[in-house]
Amino acid sequence: STGGSDAAKRRAGEAAAEQVTDGMAVGLGTGSTAAHAIDALGRAVDAGLDIVGVPTSFASRQCAIDRGIPIADLDEVDGLDIAIDGADQIVAESGDCIKGGGAAHTREKIVAAASEELLIVVDPTKVAETLDHTVAIEVIPAARTGVEAAVEGLDGTPTLRQASDKDGPVITDNGNLVVDADFGSIDDSAGLAASLSQVPGVVEHGLFVDYTSAVYIGSEDGVSETRY
Ligand code: A5P
Repeated sequence: STGGSDAAKRRAGEAAAEQVTDGMAVGLGTGSTAAHAIDALGRAVDAGLDIVGVPTSFASRQCAIDRGIPIADLDEVDGLDIAIDGADQIVAESGDCIKGGGAAHTREKIVAAASEELLIVVDPTKVAETLDHTVAIEVIPAARTGVEAAVEGLDGTPTLRQASDKDGPVITDNGNLVVDADFGSIDDSAGLAASLSQVPGVVEHGLFVDYTSAVYIGSEDGVSETRY
């Protein structure tokens, strides 16, 4: 969990969950803010809401099971109506964002791409004028050094993400490594996204350009919605 207050995150998550209606297939995002949306959906399911959730990670799958939300794999549903997910940083003007702080961005992007709408839920500490957060890159282990060299070729500084609770690297839900790339202030996020996608061994990166349908920014006293 990162960023601002839990109350702000909860307001954002609950506001996005209110967009979900009967019969929808819903992408369930990863992280502490998306977990509030899953909580709210669980309460709605208890009260009779009829939905199926498609999780984006081991953690969000477990969260959905704990809340009693029926779940399915992506290939069992006919597309998704709404996906609700957090972000590490977002530009409110465009909705472009950086994800992957929880190493779940590959499945998050697959689920977002399958969804009619992506609702991003954040607290105000995530909102920036320009993206400058490190970009998480999920990498096939054999490709790590090549990807690190490619990041340097794009004027970035790569760091292999290390586990906090073991002597070694973070391993994703898909069995891969995560390289966090610092590009400083990112002026051309679409160009950088395209360049990173072309590097052999890159499974997926955390730049989400033109994915966001709406952002919900929770604060201490309310929540704002911006649609794109
Ligand atoms: C997971 O990989 C990320 O994309 C998360 O969506 C992001 O880290 C947001 O998490 P928090 O809501 O806990 O900040």
